[in-house]
Amino acid sequence: MLTSSKEMILKARAEKYAVGCFNTSDLEITKAIIAAAEAQESPVIVATSPKAIDYASLQTLSGIVKSEAKKAEVPVALHLDHGLTLSIVEECLNNGYTSIMFDGSGSELEHNEILTRQAVEMAHAKNVSCEGELGHLGKVGKTQGQLTDPNDVIEYIQKTGVDFLAISIGSQHGIGDNEELDIPLLKKINSMTKIPLVLHGASGVPETDIKKAIKNGIAKINIDTDIRHTFAKSIKKVLEKNAQENDPREILTKVMFDLQKMIEEKIKLFGSNGKV
Ligand code: G3H
Ligand code: ZN
Repeated sequence: MLTSSKEMILKARAEKYAVGCFNTSDLEITKAIIAAAEAQESPVIVATSPKAIDYASLQTLSGIVKSEAKKAEVPVALHLDHGLTLSIVEECLNNGYTSIMFDGSGSELEHNEILTRQAVEMAHAKNVSCEGELGHLGKVGKTQGQLTDPNDVIEYIQKTGVDFLAISIGSQHGIGDNEELDIPLLKKINSMTKIPLVLHGASGVPETDIKKAIKNGIAKINIDTDIRHTFAKSIKKVLEKNAQENDPREILTKVMFDLQKMIEEKIKLFGSNGKV
């Protein structure tokens, strides 16, 4: 069923596990995410980034996720990931998104707060929850991140009214050589607020750190790069085995199987299995 992300994340925070937020850009990845959640009896968040929306179109991509979610036997939220403008927030809300992330982390704190506040008001007017980002995650090999400053946390939450807070504690988007988390920093932030915390850039983070993060307030975990790696590796494997295969349905059925297995492992790591 298509649901809000709010209840599933609040429950995760209270019971000390995390809900997986997995990025999709097409039918096959969407089906694999939902099949994994069903197999593990787990709630799940299906995320679409602005790049995925540009690729597939908002109507088509949201249509795929909504129709697959409605058939699902587990709660599925349709989430805007890293919305950078208020106009994409508005478009997503008008297309039935049940969860929003507004990412103002590329701006100065004050500007981030002002824009995020507006995104939160737009989302709340439609009864949809909204996540914001404080500090900034870098992209492996491309941009530098900035750790979240704990001194900004209370002000940011109060001024923006966000439901969930994405923080920068050592992970990066992509898979880096060293993505160990700054657990003392996480503990400090967690001691300051009760709102659920979000870990982005989780591909490449050691499993031991993921477990420590969940114990210390992380209740939503975003995975994208691992999905793209598995997708590419799986296609290569299929075509290496049979270079003559030219039926997308044959190729992509095997890809979906590999994706589902990988996502099931993440769900078990996050502890959301059996939590529906
Ligand atoms: O918003 C998406 C996630 O933060 C993805 O991070 O590319 O390291 O899996 P990742
Ligand atoms: Zn992210």
